[in-house]
Amino acid sequence: MANKLVIGNWKMNGSRKSNAELLSKILAPLERLESVDVAICPPFIYLEQLANLVVQSSIQLGAQDLNQAEHGAFTGEISGAMLRDFGCHYVLVGHSERRSLYGEGNDLVATKFQAALRSGLTPVLCVGETLEQRRKGVTLEVVNKQLQAVLDLLGVNQLGGGVLAYEPVWAIGTGETATPEQAQEVHRHIRQYIAENNSEVARTTRILYGGSVKGDNAAELFAQPDIDGGLVGGASLDVHSFLSICKAGQPRHT
Ligand code: 13P
Repeated sequence: MANKLVIGNWKMNGSRKSNAELLSKILAPLERLESVDVAICPPFIYLEQLANLVVQSSIQLGAQDLNQAEHGAFTGEISGAMLRDFGCHYVLVGHSERRSLYGEGNDLVATKFQAALRSGLTPVLCVGETLEQRRKGVTLEVVNKQLQAVLDLLGVNQLGGGVLAYEPVWAIGTGETATPEQAQEVHRHIRQYIAENNSEVARTTRILYGGSVKGDNAAELFAQPDIDGGLVGGASLDVHSFLSICKAGQPRHT
């Protein structure tokens, strides 16, 4: 089994001072953990600072978004090649905040996934339903469509070049976590959906859960058979919470 993966998504938070403080407190304890992969996605502007801070550690760096083009007249945008230039390994694509606040649809998200792979980055494709969609009982259809856009553009092998993250929108930043059973149901569905195309890719693709993951619920979530780690927002900004979550990602000794 691959290691569990915990990715901290700082969103639009941090400062040079607070970043340095946070990293000074988490670096040594994280190095003592075994068999768990950890990455941090700071705002673009702090990538260089973070790259310097994590250089001697096993923490990997990620970005929160990228532009689908390689370069050109796209004021304010950042390309995959630039992210590689700053040592990024991962990049989030299709985060629900990008989808809902900045109008990113499934087709655009698929082209961003493609651009990430083209640049040698590992895209983290975020999928998930809103509260309204869950109440209507269309959760699985929504997730299927979000996955299908990437499958249509790139095929299942390239989908498997990324990481998936199931983030129910109603659980993001609300303190209301999906129960382990609710999360597992969708994770299992996602794996089955991929397996219809390629069972090996389904088996090896890591599917993270995101949405109010905290120190006290991470272990239970990570114990589910189809949950391969977490995509963590708010709790990744807190030393104690982030360390507990990463610790929960270690293999359980029986
Ligand atoms: P919270 O952990 O703050 O709910 O955010 C989840 C998220 O959106 C991570 O990408």
